[in-house]
Parts: sequence; C-alpha cells; structure tokens
Amino acid sequence: MTTRKILVTSALPYANGPIHLGHLVEYVQTDIWVRFQRLRGHQCIYVCADDAHGTPIMLHAQRLGITPEALIERIGAEHRADFAAFHIGFDEYHSTHSPENRELAEFIYRQLKAGGHIVTRTISQAYDPVEGMFLPDRFIKGECPRCGAPDQYGDACEVCGATYSPTELKNPVSVVSGATPVERESEHYFFRLADFEDSLRRWTDPAAGHLQPEVAHKLAEWFEAGLKDWDISRDAPYFGFPIPGTQDKYFYVWLDAPIGYLASFKRYCERTGLAFDEFWGPDSEAEVYHFIGKDILYFHALFWPAMLEGAGFRKPSGIFAHGFLTIDGQKMSKSRGTFIRARTYLDHLDPEYLRYYLAAKLGPGIDDLDLNFEDFVQRVNSDLVGKVVNIASRCAGFIHKRFDGRLGPRLDDSELYDRFLQAGARIAELYEGRAFGQAMREIMALADLANQYIDERKPWEAAKDPARLDSVRLTCTQGLNLFRVLMTYLQPVLPVTAEKACAFLGLPDLTWHGLEEPLLDHPIERFKPLMTRVDKDKVAALQAAARAEADERQAAARPAPEKKGIEPIAPTIDYEDFARVDLRIARIVEAAEVEGADKLLRLTLDLGGETRQVFAGIKKAYRPEELEGRLTVMVANLKPRKMRFGVSEGMVLAAGPGGEDLWLLSPDPGAAPGMRVK
Ligand code: 2FM
Ligand code: ZN
Repeated sequence: MTTRKILVTSALPYANGPIHLGHLVEYVQTDIWVRFQRLRGHQCIYVCADDAHGTPIMLHAQRLGITPEALIERIGAEHRADFAAFHIGFDEYHSTHSPENRELAEFIYRQLKAGGHIVTRTISQAYDPVEGMFLPDRFIKGECPRCGAPDQYGDACEVCGATYSPTELKNPVSVVSGATPVERESEHYFFRLADFEDSLRRWTDPAAGHLQPEVAHKLAEWFEAGLKDWDISRDAPYFGFPIPGTQDKYFYVWLDAPIGYLASFKRYCERTGLAFDEFWGPDSEAEVYHFIGKDILYFHALFWPAMLEGAGFRKPSGIFAHGFLTIDGQKMSKSRGTFIRARTYLDHLDPEYLRYYLAAKLGPGIDDLDLNFEDFVQRVNSDLVGKVVNIASRCAGFIHKRFDGRLGPRLDDSELYDRFLQAGARIAELYEGRAFGQAMREIMALADLANQYIDERKPWEAAKDPARLDSVRLTCTQGLNLFRVLMTYLQPVLPVTAEKACAFLGLPDLTWHGLEEPLLDHPIERFKPLMTRVDKDKVAALQAAARAEADERQAAARPAPEKKGIEPIAPTIDYEDFARVDLRIARIVEAAEVEGADKLLRLTLDLGGETRQVFAGIKKAYRPEELEGRLTVMVANLKPRKMRFGVSEGMVLAAGPGGEDLWLLSPDPGAAPGMRVK
C-alpha cells in the first residue's frame, strides 16, 4: 500500500467566545477522520488556529477594557485546553494574528493585485458618528422595514425573515453607542471573483469530485446568480492586518481567515522541517481537505480556491461540509439551556461518550444532527459498555485466574476471526467516506457476533469442569482477539479507551495491518474497567448547569438596576460568632412547587447522609427542574421553622434583591454534600 500525504484542517473558531458542542461536531468529525488515516499508516497532518480578527473581537476587548491581543490570547488558551480535553489531536494550533499569517496575507494580496484582480470603489455605509467607526450590519438595530418588528439586526428580520440592507431599517441605532447611524462614503478594495469563473466552474463541477454532490448543486445556483466582486477591506478602527500601501485600511477578517490554514501549516513545517511546497505548491501531489460547516461554503468553495489560484498555490482536494447540531430537537440558543459549552460538558461527562455519540450520528452529507440525551445515554451504555467493553471483561478474568495471564496457543474459531478482518475493508471504506454512523453500526454488528460467540461457549460453565479448561482458554483467547479487532476499528473514535485496551492487551499500539497476526501465547495485563456507564444523574446535572448558565447570561444582559448605594456593612464580629453558623454543602435532590405559595419552592437537600426539607423563596428565579442535582450552601443549624406547608429545616444561601433577581450560591466542582463551609 502506498502512503498517502494528507493535510487536513477544521474551520478556525473565532477567538471571541467559548467552544461549544456545536463546534465539536466538526472537530470530532475531523479528528476521527485524521486518526483513521494515521491508523492506516498514512501521513496525515491536522492543523487549525484561532480566527482572531474582526470588529466583534475589537469591541469585545473594548468592553472588557483590555487589548484585543490580550483577549485573543486568553480565549486561545481556553480553546486549546478544551480541544485537548476532547482529544482533538492537532499537529499545530496557531492564530491568524501571527507573523506567518500576516506575511502570507500580504503576499497573496500582492499577487492578486499584480494579476489585476483587485479593484477599488467608493461605497456608502452606515457610520457611527459617536464612536467614529463604520458599522457592520450586525451592529445596527432598528425596526424591520417589512413587518415593523422592533430590535432587528441590520441585515435580516428574525420575526418575518425579510432580508434587507441596514439603510432600510426604520429608526436605526448603533448597537455600539446607541447613536443614530449616518451614511458615509469610503473607498473599499474588492477581489474580482468573476475573473476566476471558468476555472471555478470546472473545479466545482460534481464530476471533479472536490465537493459533496448536494454542495455542488448549491454552487450551481450561486453561479446562476452571478459572481460578484468581494469587499475585502475595512476601515480603521479595526482589529486585523493593515493592507499594504494603504492608509487606515485593513484586510476583512474573512480574507485572512482561510490564509490561516496556510500560516498554521507553515509554522508546522518550520518546526518539523517539512517542505511547505510539497503540500501547497502548484504541482503538489499531496491531498488537502477542509472540514467546514455548511454555512461557510461560499468562502471555502468560491473565494478560497480563487484566491489560491490567483496567488499561485494549488487548490484543495476536497471540501467536506457538515450540518448543524440541535440539542433534544432544539436549535442551540444562547438564551436557552441548549447552548452547552465544551467546558460545562467536561465538568460532568466523559468526552469519549460524546465522540462516540457524534460518530454514531455522522454521515457524509450536510444534514443536521440531533443530540438527544436519552438516546445518548442509551446508545453509549448499550454499545460501548454493554457490547464492546463487556467482551473483554467476560474473558479476561479466566485468563488471569486459570492461565497465568497468558493467551492460548491458537484461535478457537479462526473463521470468525477472518470474518472480523474481512469486515475491515468495508469499515475502512465507510470511515474514508465519512459515513461514520454506518461504520459504527458495522462495528457493533461485529460486537454482537463476538458476544454471541461467548454466549454459546459459556466459559463460566466450562470452567467448572477441569476436563474442559483448555476450551475455556481457547474461548477467551478468541474473545480477546475479537475485542482487539473491535478496539482497533474504534480507535479513531475512542483514542483513550483504545490506549487503555492496548495496555491491557500488552501491545505497544493498535494498527490496522497488525490485526493480520492474532495474539497467541501472549501475556495480557489484569483487566480494569475501560469505560464506565453514563450516569443519568450526571446528564441531568449537565443540563441543569447549561440552563443556569443561560439564565446567568440573560441576567447579565438585563440593564443594571439603578444604583441606590449598598446597605451599611454590618458591625465587626469575632471568628467565634461566625463559627456558630454551621454552613454546609448540600445537594438539591428534589425541588418542587408548593401548592398555595407563589414564592416558595420545597427543596429536599442531601447533606451527605442526612436529608433536610427547606422552603426557599426562590420560585420566581428558578424552575424546579433546573435546580435538581446541583450543589449549594445551606445554614444547617438554623432553628427549624414551622410553616403553613410544613417544617423548614434550614436555609439555602442566595444573593440578589429578590424576585427574579436571586442567585443561589454554588461551590466549585469538587465540593461534596455535607462538607463544612468555613
Ligand atoms: O465561521 C467561523 O466561525 C469562522 N471563524 C470560520 C473561519 S474558517 C477559515 F476560513 F478560517
Ligand atoms: Zn420583519
């Protein structure tokens, strides 16, 4: 088999906010594909970067009172940590705000200009006279010109779906300063996309195989509509790279974003001594693939290949677009609990659960996919724990107890083993074509066969009969060899579990071709559980945490209440006075409305061995279901109080003026029910 040279990218996330589960669809999809290629023995380099420029990042930094450089640095570090925790194995993770990217962006721009593909024109745009800046459409709000809905963005109405230009909005205001925008003229730089129409038509033709069929179809519509010049400049103030030879003009963030793919790869080459041109030179024979969301196809399938061609680089071998993630059938929304940050997920659940679940749902097309939590628990538990890991746990004990931890000298059913190996060709084809869901189904069908085999041989019964011990050894040797094949096929999806399996099987690594040789007369380690079942309570806690975050975001977005000065600080007390209050961590195991009480919720609190009932006046601020499972702080030695509804045995701590504006205290992760707070 010849070794392929492959370079792979995922879209660059904006350095403007956290990685969330919607992002992860793409990184997990790409990472699985990359790990698959490596497992097959190919050279496959995976690069990415933060997309660090643009007006939103500039304004965000301003709001925080820090420089954009400080903001992108901080967010870059968070992104790296989140990706590492989800085992996304980048070879290089860079930033578009880097010397390599600046150099490449300037080079490409100069090439395009020299080729006559850059023109200038004066255009009129909305301008904020107070802030002294031009306003992107998303930074202007007003009433929809069609339906009159208030508070709509400058490009589209979320109520009636109309699209328009910001000048058509009624009573427009700048989101930045609140001022009424004025029209102002400015000279802009444009890239003449239509200069590349012929070659783009050839490159995007379905028969050329660079695009998914449904995507190529969409592109045909864009050609029909006509390829327009692309505005690649923005006026100061802007966070980006200055356009060489201009005053106060910057490259639009989308101009230097895809160039970030080149820049990140360049840095990788500099670090490792690889030749950049072998992958990006006009005659490169390497393969280059971009994984992206379907919303950014125009940039990747039209602007990007045209820019590459105009600057003398090769074009990508393929663009792989995917659909969006919905959560329990709902669009991800920042104001609802469907917006789940990678970090929040990691606080509660194993990243490999999500990797497997997404793999099981991903196909080669651009359909959206749904994360249904009930299905998630069921699928991970039944497939991974119930089927795959179970094979090893059923066989390993006998090998250790009876045979000194050594596998037998031959396979019991080599036909079955061969069947597993032969299935590899189909599974590889499915991985290659990104039909991961289908690949997972084939692998699970094999896992069923392996379990069926063990069920039939019943080693637990045979082990009772000394005359049949040899057969027990062969059965378990067979079972563990089948397990090895399955874990190899699953390695791209479950790199950590595969590593543990590898250590358990006493192997240096798992490779696809290594499976030709079954493990015989080979020592294995003691079996430790490779993966635990998904705990439903933890899923509930994740959902509650996501809802709490959404509520916090909404509260933060509400205008601050008028300042009335704070109440006088209470008189000083001794430590002994404070120590008389017994503060404890408590888990809210149940929260329920109280009939006849419009402010109260009845909370059942677990204090680690003891439960208490507490009535708390937090009904306006919290829905019962979002409280269940979370930790808080309670006063445990408050005299019980008899109320109309029952006895309240303590009090939970919350801050805020009351009503909707109340925030329960919660400890950092690690605290456990019953712990004393002091
Ligand atoms: O849509 C986005 O999130 C962009 N930051 C993706 C950029 S991909 C590439 F072009 F850089
Ligand atoms: Zn409207």
